[in-house]
Amino acid sequence: MAPLQARGAARKLQAMETKTTIDRLSGFVGKTVTLSGWVYNTRASGKIAFLIVRDGTGLCQCVVEKSDETTGFFDEVRKLPQESSLEVTGLVSVDERAVGGYEVKVVDVRVVQTAQDFPITPKPHGIDFLMGHRHLWFRSQRQWHIMRIRATVIDEIRRYYNDNGYILVDTPIFAPAAGEGAQTLFQVDYFGDPVYLAQTGQLYVEAACMSHRKVYCFGPTFRAEKSKTRRHLTEFWMIEPEIAYASLDDVLDVAEDFICSVVQRVLRDHRDELVDLGRDIDALEAIKKPFYRMTYSEAAELLHSSKAVELLDNDLTQKTAEISELGKKIEELEAVAKGGGKQWKKDKAAAEVIEARELRAELEEQLRNIPTHKKLAAEFKWGADLGGSDETIISRLHERPVFVTHYPKYIKAFYMREDRDDDRVVENFDLLAPEGVGEIIGGSAREEDYDRLLARIQHDGLPQADYEWYLDLRRYGSVPHGGFGLGIERTVAWICGIKHLREAIAYPRMRGKFYP
Ligand code: 4AD
Ligand code: MG
Repeated sequence: MAPLQARGAARKLQAMETKTTIDRLSGFVGKTVTLSGWVYNTRASGKIAFLIVRDGTGLCQCVVEKSDETTGFFDEVRKLPQESSLEVTGLVSVDERAVGGYEVKVVDVRVVQTAQDFPITPKPHGIDFLMGHRHLWFRSQRQWHIMRIRATVIDEIRRYYNDNGYILVDTPIFAPAAGEGAQTLFQVDYFGDPVYLAQTGQLYVEAACMSHRKVYCFGPTFRAEKSKTRRHLTEFWMIEPEIAYASLDDVLDVAEDFICSVVQRVLRDHRDELVDLGRDIDALEAIKKPFYRMTYSEAAELLHSSKAVELLDNDLTQKTAEISELGKKIEELEAVAKGGGKQWKKDKAAAEVIEARELRAELEEQLRNIPTHKKLAAEFKWGADLGGSDETIISRLHERPVFVTHYPKYIKAFYMREDRDDDRVVENFDLLAPEGVGEIIGGSAREEDYDRLLARIQHDGLPQADYEWYLDLRRYGSVPHGGFGLGIERTVAWICGIKHLREAIAYPRMRGKFYP
């Protein structure tokens, strides 16, 4: 890089120009601006270099032509490593073909730091490698989109409840007792006493709704999930509204209205990003009231029906065909990779082989599981909890979300209200998102009757002393009430069309995974 003094002309220019960000370039067409960011990508020939710069607000193509004006930095810039940080000054023009729709014709560049070899390159990497580099991985476009959509989902959640008369109540993370079943508790030493990381804020917002009528809590929750699945994290965020004088139907109405407003907001603010993520927009547009409502018993019937069998048989045929197609494609690509063509073409083919093989392995696993899922559905017995594959079947058979209500009492949490017409079931619900996503919300009417609640606490062998404060709510002005919990990561994954929750949170925590 030429010393600063040697670039006096550009310096003077810089004094007059404006600093801005890529998302504001539309207001600077025909003007000279300075952007500050990082090198996303470079492409250079003898006399011209294209820098794709990202600045946190977007991507912009910056063009450096070799000329008297740029000789001071042209050679350095064309070789700048990916993710080097820099400031670029140049003239803004509209360019429909360029990423983001604008181009900057560069007159000056100031490198802030020349990056070392960035570990994440445009070629495919294994997921373990990417997860181990999560702190760098989320600079990539796909992750950047997902994180922005997550921020909007959370913003809309807060807006929805604040605008509809709910009071935010923050609930504790150190909890003296289980809220959702003892198997998934994380125990912490609290000055010699055992306490647990909160699995839910629900019991605490129940108390608060007796003070404010409509309340919500929103925070991180913890579950020691022993198995690693694509739907489970050990640390996830949950929004939990709770409403006094509400019936199960009232709660379902709130959940439905709330989900529609979150989906509408993301469609409004992030349509292009959803397209970039490859999301099927029509499927999101279909998220309208009314959602389907069926009981657990009806869901069990659906699992036994010919519809379920057909769905899985179709999968079998389709996936077999896809795998054989992929096999052919892999052979072709391998031939290119090993052939005598240009090196870059061979490299590209080799990278695509890795990707295609990963996809094929995934499809083969899905194919192997189909007979099991078929059997589980066909042999589903009333009284069992719906498994992941059962939820997937029900959710795929509906284009809009499905409320499944009235589950068998003893597979559900102690606080759920016993159905007064059928004491085998409780007034609860799960909301299953469509396209095979499965449960994103769990909720219920709460047992408001002191005797029934106490009987259930005793039946479940819970330490009564830990729940005395909770029983107080049934001693002093108990009323029907209810609420639910929505998992943020599952919602973001559904809306973005991500298969695995680990991409729906900045720093995912799973069994065996807590770095970085
Ligand atoms: O169904 P869950 O366990 O319900 C409760 O915790 C209730 N106390 C909520 C309430 O009524 N206030 O969890 C609610 C939601 C699930 O539907 C799911 O979206 C998410 O929380 N969730 C998880 N998300 C990621 N990883 C996990 N291990 C999750 N467990 C639950
Ligand atoms: Mg649940």
